[in-house]
Amino acid sequence: MMEKLLSVKALCKTYILKGSTNNVLRGVDLEIGAGEFVCIMGPSGSGKSTLLYTVSGMDNMTSGSVRFDGRELAELDRKELADLRLHEMGFIFQQMYMLKKLCILDNILLPGFQAGGDRVKVRERAEQLMRRLDIIDCAEREITEVSGGQLQRACLCRALINEPKVVFADEPTGALNSKAAEEVMRELIAANSRGTTILMITHSVKVAARSSRVLYLVDGNIQGELELGSLKDENELTKRERAINTWLMDRGW
Ligand SMILES: Nc1ncnc2c1ncn2[C@@H]1O[C@H](COP(=O)(O)OP(=O)(O)OP(=O)(O)O)[C@@H](O)[C@H]1O
Ligand SMILES: [Mg+2]
Repeated sequence: MMEKLLSVKALCKTYILKGSTNNVLRGVDLEIGAGEFVCIMGPSGSGKSTLLYTVSGMDNMTSGSVRFDGRELAELDRKELADLRLHEMGFIFQQMYMLKKLCILDNILLPGFQAGGDRVKVRERAEQLMRRLDIIDCAEREITEVSGGQLQRACLCRALINEPKVVFADEPTGALNSKAAEEVMRELIAANSRGTTILMITHSVKVAARSSRVLYLVDGNIQGELELGSLKDENELTKRERAINTWLMDRGW
């Protein structure tokens, strides 16, 4: 059998704060195939963000195994890990980590230039993404001169600039009104239909209804999995939302 794009086994993450240990991830097993669109749901503090950071190599794991496209993350050195993240992964975080000294456009261009792409092409791609997400007017502004929603959409542009294999997104529509949230979702779905794998945390049933699979995380374990299949018809959304709601309610949501 072909190995999945992301293969996680017995993943544990323990934080130690002032001498007390917090076992945040308690043996997570997870497989995600290339091209899937998977949502993670679960109560606040259940370890969703921690899971995203550890499977993407942003944070180290305490024990277990994470393989990305055939490579064991723990065996990569810092440089290899940084290259992997730059070329093959896109990120949208809860905290957005935009560089304060750069304008919006330069923040989006930076990973494109770092990856050694053709400068003209990178710039064209950045502008095309910004236009699609309706933030082209923000290009030259400082990151303090745009709204939270605009900043979040800029983060999405940055995440997609190198056409990554996978996008890890931590509540990418969390700070957005419904129009901006729809634009972000539309763009993520467009990337997914071009083959980009998506692993996304969300609290929104509406958002999850567009994914192909939903995982429910509680106390650092995946306690349920709802297979939805890829969305073929917008008319199915209401039915899918209802299915997710019932499923979540059964899990004490
Ligand atoms: N750097 C850290 N050091 C110590 N403890 C941490 C750290 N980051 C997170 N935690 C703790 O780990 C647990 C899981 O946090 P995490 O951010 O993964 O939750 P979450 O499911 O993403 O929650 P939310 O929905 O509120 O974003 C929490 O108890 C949190 O306080
Ligand atoms: Mg979180």
